[in-house]
Amino acid sequence: MDLQISVFLLFVLFTAGHSFSCYECLGLTGSCSAQTLKTCPSISTKCMSSTTVVQAGDISSKVKLKDCVADCANGSMNLGIAKTSLVCCNTDRCNLQDAPDPSNVLNGKTCYSCDEKSCSNILRCSGSEDRCFKATGTIGGQSTVIKGCVSKSICDAETSVRDVQGTSCCEGNLCNGAQSVTQSANGAQSVTQSFLFLCCSLLSFILLH
Ligand SMILES: *[C@@H]1O[C@H](CO)[C@@H](O)[C@H](O)[C@H]1NC(C)=O
Repeated sequence: MDLQISVFLLFVLFTAGHSFSCYECLGLTGSCSAQTLKTCPSISTKCMSSTTVVQAGDISSKVKLKDCVADCANGSMNLGIAKTSLVCCNTDRCNLQDAPDPSNVLNGKTCYSCDEKSCSNILRCSGSEDRCFKATGTIGGQSTVIKGCVSKSICDAETSVRDVQGTSCCEGNLCNGAQSVTQSANGAQSVTQSFLFLCCSLLSFILLH
């Protein structure tokens, strides 16, 4: 009995000592001024913040997100129509600052991107986007392909997720064409990628249809 109580107390102390929090924000109008603190579930050991800019013709809109995540990486992802910058950190409440706006500085690299009609648009990458990627997923029952530029750090984040199948990164200009994409060595798919994929795709869906 004594042993059980001791073990219980130890458990309480242990778990209480490890509570970890992050700022949470769903800034659909481009601001996180109403962010709140959230105690993360035990699976989450990192905080993230992201800034997405969606540009469709004359329409431009900015969305900021913050949350606890299991894994993430610093970097950016560019689908042409939408660009996201992501900041990831692993200390308590570390995502107070908003992620910076995605870079507009072209870096000389090119990748294919998709619109509603085709996946052979040539996209010029910016900032730290030194890889091309291709992903397929299902949104509202419809199979969708997305392609674009991405940072190597995001490709390397290793957490598998069921929502997105066949996410792959490659190195070299226009390497993410239909035939030439190969799965990354470890088949890694990241939470970040699927999260951004769903977020960006949802936004483009809302704006374009
Ligand atoms: C990501 O960037 C932030 C801010 O620039 C930095 O504090 C943090 O250490 C970086 N995280 C990683 C995993 O490199």
